[in-house]
Amino acid sequence: MKSQDIRKAYLQFFESKGHLIVPSAPIVLKDDPTLMFNNSGMAQFKEYFLGNATPKSPRITDTQKCLRVSGKHNDLEDVGFDTYHHTMFEMLGNWSFGDYFKKEALPWAWEFLTEVLKLDKDRLYVSVFEGNEAENVPFDQEAFDIWKQFVSEDRIILGNKKDNFWEMGDQGPCGPCSEIHIDLRTDEERAAVSGRSLVNADHPQVVEIWNNVFMEFNRKADGSLEKLPAQHVDTGMGFERLCMAMQGVTSNYDTDVFTPLIQKVEQITGLKYTSNEVKNISEEQNKTNIAIRVIVDHVRAVAFAIADGQLPSNTGAGYVIRRILRRAIRYGFTFLNTKEAFIYELVAVLANQMGEFFPEIKKQQTLVTNVIREEEASFLRTLDQGLVLLKDLMLAHTGQISKEKLEIGGDYIFKLYDTFGFPEDLTALILKENGFTYDKNGFNEELQKQKSRSRAASEVSTDDWKILVEGNTESFVGYDQVENEVKITRIRKVDSKKDGVLYQIVLDATPFYPEGGGQVGDKGTLVSANETIEIIDTKKENNLILHFAKKLPENVNASFIAKVNTDLRADSSKNHSATHLMHQALRSVLGTHVEQKGSLVNPNNLRFDFSHFSKVTDEELQQVEAFVNARIQEQLPLIERRSIPIKQALDEGAMALFGEKYGDNVRAIKFGESMELCGGIHVNNTADIWYFKIVSEGAVAAGIRRIEAITGDAVKAFFASQENTLNEVKIALKNPQDVLKATLSLQDENTKLKKQLEVLLKEKAKNMKAELAKELQEVNGIQFLAKQVDLNPEGAKDLAYELGNLGQNLFLVLATAEEGKPMLTCYISKELVADKNLNAGQVVRDLGKFIQGGGGGQPFFATAGGKNAAGIPEALAKAIDFVK
Ligand code: ALA
Repeated sequence: MKSQDIRKAYLQFFESKGHLIVPSAPIVLKDDPTLMFNNSGMAQFKEYFLGNATPKSPRITDTQKCLRVSGKHNDLEDVGFDTYHHTMFEMLGNWSFGDYFKKEALPWAWEFLTEVLKLDKDRLYVSVFEGNEAENVPFDQEAFDIWKQFVSEDRIILGNKKDNFWEMGDQGPCGPCSEIHIDLRTDEERAAVSGRSLVNADHPQVVEIWNNVFMEFNRKADGSLEKLPAQHVDTGMGFERLCMAMQGVTSNYDTDVFTPLIQKVEQITGLKYTSNEVKNISEEQNKTNIAIRVIVDHVRAVAFAIADGQLPSNTGAGYVIRRILRRAIRYGFTFLNTKEAFIYELVAVLANQMGEFFPEIKKQQTLVTNVIREEEASFLRTLDQGLVLLKDLMLAHTGQISKEKLEIGGDYIFKLYDTFGFPEDLTALILKENGFTYDKNGFNEELQKQKSRSRAASEVSTDDWKILVEGNTESFVGYDQVENEVKITRIRKVDSKKDGVLYQIVLDATPFYPEGGGQVGDKGTLVSANETIEIIDTKKENNLILHFAKKLPENVNASFIAKVNTDLRADSSKNHSATHLMHQALRSVLGTHVEQKGSLVNPNNLRFDFSHFSKVTDEELQQVEAFVNARIQEQLPLIERRSIPIKQALDEGAMALFGEKYGDNVRAIKFGESMELCGGIHVNNTADIWYFKIVSEGAVAAGIRRIEAITGDAVKAFFASQENTLNEVKIALKNPQDVLKATLSLQDENTKLKKQLEVLLKEKAKNMKAELAKELQEVNGIQFLAKQVDLNPEGAKDLAYELGNLGQNLFLVLATAEEGKPMLTCYISKELVADKNLNAGQVVRDLGKFIQGGGGGQPFFATAGGKNAAGIPEALAKAIDFVK
């Protein structure tokens, strides 16, 4: 069976059992501060288990793109070395939200595997939770009894808390689970060693394929378990592993999920990958295999993350993506000898193969390809630079340290790693090839220090919610109101190194807009009869709207008036509406390849990232500005459709974003011809924006541009400050009639004067030459002079060369202090450099210390600038030591 058909069979099977098929959520999570990436099928359903929201069907099934590269579930370092771990993988899942439970879930799982897919029953093992006294959770008798109907008891394994109690993270929904394992070894191997003994023993051919979790508890902040309001089922089956079992192979990489990608790598590199069936391969071939597995695995994770809107960057989720890609590049560089970008070429293969089920990868193919190519090129440059640095380092060590002690300090290797992204193992390899070692302990110490620094910086402790009012938690009235009478429904304390102690407050019906769609969260106040609490920010976490405050009200049960700061909100809404108009303008001026790739809207300005492959010219920017300002002048009213079916909105031409999760019903915002799916706050009429002004344009990544712009009062302030500057310039120029002309003629005059000055200085240097030649002093057969001269550094250089032409064996140190800035110039005749081993670079470095500076140059000529002109006499006095 082809992988495509296996996926379909699974979804259809659960559809036939009354499940609603839903699309995979984006791989990058937006509304969950505890998790960067979707790491399991259930992540998008967390709130349903906790009872904070209601699903649209009690039975749901899907295949979810997952990434396990950070946090509790992290497989990154294993990937490539074995045949069954991945960064990105698909998790097939079926869910019951307070609906069916064990006695349906387990028999269905068995039916699907053995009757639909017809997997060999003799190869399957199941596990059941053995119970845990400390947690007060008993042995799962019910699951055990259900399994007994299908398999003999010797195929049921009892597992402990580590293997058979599933938790998504340190906090959150969890419960006992029952896993299904498959034994893919040959009949002979199976006869020799029982599969049972290999379950959960990291055997590459005896692997878990499906986990059925019975969600019954919530792990609280203090570590205790609390019963959930209802019982749920959460299952997850490893799609790639299932394909391995179905396609009669013993490695995920030998399934058709990976083989097309592997073939492409073979074609590009001219190297061969050997399937897992080929035994006794050479060490060399093994390394090639590992590198190819790393690359075909990682490109999937990176490509899908970019397609879902997460570009590689230097922080957060973007940094994780960048590191995954760099791991792939580095394996290619070292083991496949690829010195040029090539991973980007795999995107086309991926799009072809996965595009039918995941259209985002096809639609975003050009962008994904370009971004990966650019990242590759830039990291390959880094690797090159690193190689040069390492070579210098090795050169510096040779000749200085005796051959036996060619060890390089761990701090240096760490610096290469930390500042240049140069991987430790690559450094180690290169050093070893050249007969060097390095201080590995020293490196590890530096690494640990850095880790604890960043851990300390991101430490957060979150208390459990204190529930004041039970019931519905999501209620936003802020489209219609900026003030509302509210009750607090729950509160929680969060203590972080970054922000200190903050309280998160949830209200029954809030007018506060939570950060989202690029727009920052509202600020404002909660006012009761006796007190006023500042709300400093509002954010969304899953389905809760969190209001952040530095302190709690004395009486949390009181009634409050929630008041949004309307000045800030009005400014944000101008910027948000202007963003929509600019999006429309960009598509009209540059073309419809323009797609939003990021947006930030706050009261001060707006920032918009979009796909476009060249710099936006000044003329185009002017057109964009003119387009938006024309829409402002047209005074277009806001047409808000609060809730329309998504299909209808898209049919009407509404713009949607990749990597955004939309419900069945969406909100659409329309100004004239501009229509976008958007949850943000907007002006009632484009005239409210007053005026739109672009203040900057630049690149953020390959194929992604960024525009920053302002509206409303910010434009007024901008124009006022421009005018002010112009006035000051006029005054400085003594109020000429034509400022531009006056400035240009001033520049002209300046150029002329500079030229004249140069001529004069050259003459002066010539005159000085005759005088200074008389002052040369002979020391040890060397013509020596150290003197401060009244020239600029350029003049001193000319003078040194002029003197140099006079004769042989010259050693000169000239000091200048133009505008108080000390500078030393050293000139040494070539024959002295050769015979006496004198070096001008060394001279200025040593003497530079007296003027608090440094510099360098060539052995016969070098300069050093400094900060302390008072040190010149001492530097000059010491110069003679070199010739003595
Ligand atoms: N959530 C369960 C897992 O990821 C199914 O294994």
